[in-house]
Amino acid sequence: MSSYDLTRQLPADHFSHALRHDVQHGLTASPKTLPPKWFYDAAGSELFEEITRLPEYYPTRAEREILTSRSRAIAAITRARTLVELGSGSSEKTRLLLDALQELGTLETYIPVDVSESALDAAGKSLTKEYPGLSVHAVLSDFTHGRGLPTGAGPKVLAFLGGTLGNLLPAERAEFLTGLRKLMAPGDALLLGTDLVKDPKVLVAAYDDAAGVTAAFNKNVLNVLNRELNADFDPGTFEHVALWDARQEWIEMRLRSTRTQTVKIQALDLAVHFEEGEELRTEVSAKFRHARVADELEAAGLELAEWWTDEQGRFGLSLAVPR
Ligand code: AVJ
Repeated sequence: MSSYDLTRQLPADHFSHALRHDVQHGLTASPKTLPPKWFYDAAGSELFEEITRLPEYYPTRAEREILTSRSRAIAAITRARTLVELGSGSSEKTRLLLDALQELGTLETYIPVDVSESALDAAGKSLTKEYPGLSVHAVLSDFTHGRGLPTGAGPKVLAFLGGTLGNLLPAERAEFLTGLRKLMAPGDALLLGTDLVKDPKVLVAAYDDAAGVTAAFNKNVLNVLNRELNADFDPGTFEHVALWDARQEWIEMRLRSTRTQTVKIQALDLAVHFEEGEELRTEVSAKFRHARVADELEAAGLELAEWWTDEQGRFGLSLAVPR
């Protein structure tokens, strides 16, 4: 029989504390920044799903292409009993892995980990119906802090897909990967999706689509602050900016104030001044090369065992094992 349950790894007030902390720090810093995890309320998660269907946003399709052709190989190499997925969201691409592992007959447990309870519940409940015999243990957790990460019966695969590693800064990535390594025993594997460096025009278009969906996604973080912290941002007074930083090899999303203004954040008793043209950084999305992925894995005590890309070489999927 299949089963479904959800565990809250964090105290009920974790998210409101973390949001307050991040906003207090990020909006009093110079330049101003906010971490990208606050995009993903229910509306933001919907907008992200819409982004994945845009003609300009190739990473989702490229990663799905790789998983479609390589899931059987991943199953055969890992023979996983447990699949842990960090940032599982809708678990849409995960079905390719679940199919291959079920066909092989090794899989017992799927552990999706995400910050969105609505996404976990929706995905967990339908997967339980679709995969007879599978135990789904959803975990509501903020995996970027390495806290409350679950383990399960080995051999296990830790999957971190979608290129989300690129949303962490280099020092955060090092800490995060080292934390993952500590959860792994011999025989376990890390399956990591990374978007790759390419023509900046292609990259910028993926983060500044013609239909304006990414602009709406970016501005949605202001709605989150208005609602959760009683702020009075007028999203209409901010412009979406997406740029390629060639030195860091990352895309940055920013919100540019179109006027001089002071925004009040009541819950923090904070007034935030913006000059006309001043930009608030809302996301970094790093793009990788094979060598950088191999080096960062190695620094965390992991060895790159397999490296696959889509036909056009836009996206990389790595399978790494403890060294
Ligand atoms: C898939 C969550 C990593 O950086 O491409 C999409 C999020 N931001 N468009 C990415 C995102 C703007 C995204 N992640």
